[in-house]
Amino acid sequence: MKLAVAGKGGAGKTTFCATAARLVARTGRRVIAIDGDTNPNLHAAMGVGVGADGATIDEPLSLPASLVSRRFDGPALTVDVDTVLHDYALVAPDGVFILRMGIPEHPDEGCMCSAHATVSAVLADLDAQPDTMTILDLEASPEHLSRGTARHADVLLLIAEPYFRSLEAVRLQAQLAAETTIGRVAVVANKCRTEADVMAIEEFCARHGIELLGVLPWSDAVLDADAATTPLLDHDEVGPVVSAIAAVVERIEQPGPATINEMAR
Ligand SMILES: Nc1ncnc2c1ncn2[C@@H]1O[C@H](COP(=O)(O)OP(=O)(O)OP(=O)(O)O)[C@@H](O)[C@H]1O
Ligand SMILES: [Mg+2]
Repeated sequence: MKLAVAGKGGAGKTTFCATAARLVARTGRRVIAIDGDTNPNLHAAMGVGVGADGATIDEPLSLPASLVSRRFDGPALTVDVDTVLHDYALVAPDGVFILRMGIPEHPDEGCMCSAHATVSAVLADLDAQPDTMTILDLEASPEHLSRGTARHADVLLLIAEPYFRSLEAVRLQAQLAAETTIGRVAVVANKCRTEADVMAIEEFCARHGIELLGVLPWSDAVLDADAATTPLLDHDEVGPVVSAIAAVVERIEQPGPATINEMAR
């Protein structure tokens, strides 16, 4: 299963990915979490590379463009995925492997095409690893859709906050994703404080024919975890956001549109 997670800036993509990856790993599956953001912070959200004083002490290596060859049917790895994991992954709590896409090393170095192609190639080659759950944390820009970074994902989750500009970003990305071969595109609502927030997102999804897979409430514990540079899963393991993410993770692997989220309210 290959899951890509997108949405407007700050919607909660990284919080979702970091928590979901570790929850899945706790069930005994191999999990690969890919930081597909050129401003990377998935490792920090998973409790890797942040010292007790909040200073970064260790980071994943970036995947180099040299791992990829360009073919007519898209980019492909020049080595197998296990070699990539061995050479480039950091291991996070619960045994999650973290890979990080290439990031700008210098100003004026040009577009990030090759970095996107590398992520696409890793996802493509994970087809041969059916017992692995891969979670790709994308950047806010819809460039991952124009570059086909997530073209080999099985599911694209769009994280939506209950306000117009966030929903508009989701609408545009859902529209683009509908033209891809990604089999399932669904919304996860986040930072919902009121029943009206949930209803706004339900109404948006119904109007645009997009599946609503789950609702995550607003929780100050998420901000407290950030402030303490502690993963949400360690800070508030039995809290409402972790529970709601666990429910979404379960639904992702069930076929077909899920019913709308009475349970998550
Ligand atoms: N359910 C929630 N309740 C309260 N705050 C939240 C919730 N989910 C995420 N946040 C906060 O929102 C902010 C952005 O979260 P996060 O970094 O996960 O978003 P993102 O979509 O990955 O952002 P970016 O677009 O920069 O990659 C963080 O301060 C996080 O603590
Ligand atoms: Mg992020």
